[in-house]
Amino acid sequence: MEKTLPPTKTTKAKSSWAFRYNTGDVNTYQRARQPTPVLLSETEPAVGKHGPGIILQRMSRTLTILTPDDWHLHLRDGELLAETVPATAKHFHRAIVMPNLVPPVTTVDAATAYKDRILSNLPDGMRFEPLMTLYLTEVMSVDEIVRAAKSSVVAGCKLYPAGATTNSSSGVKDPKNIWPLFAAMEEHDLPLLLHGEVTDHEIDIFDREAVFIERHLDPIRQAFPKLRIILEHITTANSVEWVKAQASNTAATITPQHLMLNRNDLLVGGIRPHNYCLPVLKRRTHQEALQAIAISGDKRFFLGTDSAPHSQGKKESSCGCAGCYSAHSALALYATIFDQLGNLDALEAFASHFGPDFYGRPRNTSTVTLVEQPYTIAASIDAAGETYIPWMAGETLPWSVQ
Ligand code: NCD
Ligand code: ZN
Repeated sequence: MEKTLPPTKTTKAKSSWAFRYNTGDVNTYQRARQPTPVLLSETEPAVGKHGPGIILQRMSRTLTILTPDDWHLHLRDGELLAETVPATAKHFHRAIVMPNLVPPVTTVDAATAYKDRILSNLPDGMRFEPLMTLYLTEVMSVDEIVRAAKSSVVAGCKLYPAGATTNSSSGVKDPKNIWPLFAAMEEHDLPLLLHGEVTDHEIDIFDREAVFIERHLDPIRQAFPKLRIILEHITTANSVEWVKAQASNTAATITPQHLMLNRNDLLVGGIRPHNYCLPVLKRRTHQEALQAIAISGDKRFFLGTDSAPHSQGKKESSCGCAGCYSAHSALALYATIFDQLGNLDALEAFASHFGPDFYGRPRNTSTVTLVEQPYTIAASIDAAGETYIPWMAGETLPWSVQ
């Protein structure tokens, strides 16, 4: 009797988007461990007989997880909210909303008004809770921190080193200048969120995260041991090691782009402006350190997409903006990379448990289901009178959200 084996994951992975995307030197996915094939069902004949009396057919895998939250997100403002708010609310129940607007969100009143604008763009029937943040400045008062800690609107304060990234010019020149704000945050248990890069001209861009830790983060951590700290969008093995060495009130978020790409994907074979984000992609060994910790089940590392739209014109420019717009595809992207790293089971805790646990909020009770069915990321999105190119535009992922 002729035997037909069910299709294996190896066959499938070779025809996936990852293979097509990573041509030439860019081979992250070709080296990624492939998950072992899983046989999910025994059904009526479809692909043939597999042993006496047993008919096997490989079906798509599905994964149901508690609804995730996004612990680092840029929604922007104005008309663009009609695009960004539903895009995130479709898959995430809550999000930590970044305050780097123009002008930045520096008061509880401004955060409350911004939250109202966000919610007024939430389509009927959708649930979404924006967790607002304040943008720390050197002129902010301790009173504002106390107000923020007492308000139900503000979930944390964000430190942008002045000049480090998009709309950070009002940021902090030297963290020492806002020591009293950190003290108030520690006293009132208001988390500190960090863009961890120095901005000194003489420091190489690829070293800026590591130098920030040494120069600023270590001293902050030591001076304020009870302060809850989240080092956002980490990109280096140094950050992984540093966070691992801290107590449980220090955490980090990891983006899909830093898990899936390294700096070759930005620069080899032509500059790819849509892969440009800050902190900039690092070398492969750093990417691998992020991958290893993300799937490790260490509760101090959790999901933060850093989805950050800029118009096509601003990305594809002689001085292109930093930021990857990933809100629509983020969950499918994380599922894809966790699966390719061979530990899809670790996704739920990373996406849906560790973030709320760290921020002291209840885990969501609803669920979302991921299904192993191809999903093609839009080639472009028209919003607020402009065109936006989502990150990985036009690529097909093996996982989609049901
Ligand atoms: C973000 C943006 O565009 O607001 N850009 C980015 O590259 N990540 C800012 C930030 O988080 O650094
Ligand atoms: Zn960001």
